[in-house]
Amino acid sequence: MTTLNTTPLAPLLDRLFEEAATAETSAALAEFSPEERARLMRSKTDYPELYGRLKDLPLAVSRETGRLLYMLARGCGARTIVEFGTSFGISTLHLAASLRDNGGGRLITSEFEPSKVARARDHLTARGLIDLVEIREGDALRTLSVDLPETVDLLLLDGAKALYPEILSLAESHLRPGAFIVADNADHSPEYLTRVRSPANGYMSTPFADDVELSMRIG
Ligand SMILES: C[S@@+](CC[C@H](N)C(=O)[O-])C[C@H]1O[C@@H](n2cnc3c(N)ncnc32)[C@H](O)[C@@H]1O
Repeated sequence: MTTLNTTPLAPLLDRLFEEAATAETSAALAEFSPEERARLMRSKTDYPELYGRLKDLPLAVSRETGRLLYMLARGCGARTIVEFGTSFGISTLHLAASLRDNGGGRLITSEFEPSKVARARDHLTARGLIDLVEIREGDALRTLSVDLPETVDLLLLDGAKALYPEILSLAESHLRPGAFIVADNADHSPEYLTRVRSPANGYMSTPFADDVELSMRIG
């Protein structure tokens, strides 16, 4: 048995994934013209506008990606994890569960929408996982630029897609050889994909499922 698939976490995740499935995400996104949405997704400066307008939506990883995160973190015996993009904390709950089952550790996650920080904190507290998690409120470009653990075992990129290269740069010198980087919806950041898919940059990388880029730090 694992923390992930037993009470009290499993029923909460079932509920959160159900809510995510019925959330009005498509309707909210339809308020943007395709051109506006594409521009905001690729902008390195206008992302607060996009995420501000989507602040009541979970925008969560899929169930499959959640399980993948848990399995990768368990498999590599992760003790230190950094996450870009907390939202309601669905991915965070998976990662914190993996740390619990690995015997403990530290998860640093980052979110700039205060209401989302509060919601994620409530979920982690209610399920007894908050002791493993430090939620850094504010723009991750700033909050993840200081005080990262000396070595990081796993990095999840799931905030503003255009910033994936910048956030990778902040964490890069901390990634231990063999560390995993999971980037959700990385197709929106061609710059990031080019970087991690070039072996000269010190990564091995492969697209995984429809929307995930799974990479490993080599050098
Ligand atoms: C796709 S959602 C994250 C979903 C979450 N990982 C999950 O699976 O439950 C992206 C989140 O990143 C936040 N975000 C985007 N850019 C950010 C930034 N530069 N700094 C901090 N948070 C950011 C957004 O407010 C949003 O809540």
